[in-house]
Amino acid sequence: MRYAIRAAFFDFPARLADPAQASGHARYIEEGVLLIDHGKIVQLLEWEERTQVPDWEEYEYLDLRGKIIFPGFIDTHIHFPQIGMVGSWGEQLLEWLEEYTFPAEIDYQDRAFATEMAAKFLDQCLENGTTTALIFGSVHEGSTDALFEAAEHREMRIIAGKVMMDRFVPDALCEKVAESYQQTKNLIERWHNKGRLSYALTPRFAPTSTPELLAAVGRLKREYPDVWLQTHLSENPQEIAWVRELFPDQQDYLSVYHHYGLTGPRSVFAHCLHLEEAEWQCLARSDSAISFCPTSNLFLGSGLFNLRKAHQHNVKIGMGTDIGAGTSFSLLRTLSEAYKVQQLQHYALTVAEAFYHATLGGAVSLSLDDKIGNFLPGKEADFIVIDCAVTPLQTLRQARCRDIWERLFVLMTLGDERNIRQTWVNGRCAFQRHNN
Ligand code: GUN
Ligand code: ZN
Repeated sequence: MRYAIRAAFFDFPARLADPAQASGHARYIEEGVLLIDHGKIVQLLEWEERTQVPDWEEYEYLDLRGKIIFPGFIDTHIHFPQIGMVGSWGEQLLEWLEEYTFPAEIDYQDRAFATEMAAKFLDQCLENGTTTALIFGSVHEGSTDALFEAAEHREMRIIAGKVMMDRFVPDALCEKVAESYQQTKNLIERWHNKGRLSYALTPRFAPTSTPELLAAVGRLKREYPDVWLQTHLSENPQEIAWVRELFPDQQDYLSVYHHYGLTGPRSVFAHCLHLEEAEWQCLARSDSAISFCPTSNLFLGSGLFNLRKAHQHNVKIGMGTDIGAGTSFSLLRTLSEAYKVQQLQHYALTVAEAFYHATLGGAVSLSLDDKIGNFLPGKEADFIVIDCAVTPLQTLRQARCRDIWERLFVLMTLGDERNIRQTWVNGRCAFQRHNN
């Protein structure tokens, strides 16, 4: 239960007012030792400082020299029932939903299938170094139970919720408002604040929600003020035009959610690609967060997220894989695509900022930065052990790196799940890679 782990370490000890300045606020300890005790971080020290630890002998010593340990990656937007349809060809958002997504989600009405997939889904997260995620479930209460059970078994800190939707979806997925309300309430009562599990109200997006459904979501948010809320916002031009038609009284897309009380410090809006000025201001004023999902935005041809504008408006950002519109569970691959999306807009994303968004920044955007995101004493011991060179190309390129920033940037650009050697959850090694 007590470990002293010797390696190099990288984290951000404090929340950043301006993530664009992340480079000056990172902590890199080349020769460090992390003390953990019963799932919690005791301290991160320089290796030479270990002699000051009075009960040093009581820690089990693990020598991981040559590896870099990061806080566990945080995925702020991902869909549990879309693992089986990643990489579906040819469509943009609305057709993609009809053609591939809704049919895949119908399968989750089968509880045994959902249980099998929940294990595979969370194991994919762990293999990719993701220790916390904000997760969209299917519309089914039973499949959402299966997801929470699987996370509880793995001791993972997740936030999840069953999707709520009551129009413009296949009959097999279409709810009545009263049942959506009641099933959501049941799930909150069963899972919210149970150990490391939390609940997120999950209206899919405005087009699949009647005003009555959104009002019911707002009622739940008032009844349970500490639950999270996740939805999609401003992803695709056809979607935005459709929202305008469906909600003609609202001045813009975000106003639909804001009107029903769905913005706030625990609300996370995925995508936000085509926002108007008033929407940026509303996100900032309400202290809502955005999940930036570059692989998804490129794959569906949705658009380019404007990170510079998010910083100008001081809006919190986390990274999202958005499986299955996104194409990888790997936050390393996701950051690499984020860099390219910003390059197309002449914003040179630094590796420090990128890793901030995938770790402490993600924790901030989920209001979990008091529990996870870095190696401060008392934080939960969720971390990943990374090998920067696991392919011939990575080995060749890493040998030519002049400093840690270049090493990390090459890791981000060439890296993927193969670089994740171990994933620790709640002070326990939950995944170990053996095959390379
Ligand atoms: N908008 C509404 N539902 C979805 C979904 O499942 N994925 C994405 N990317 N956008 C959505
Ligand atoms: Zn999504």
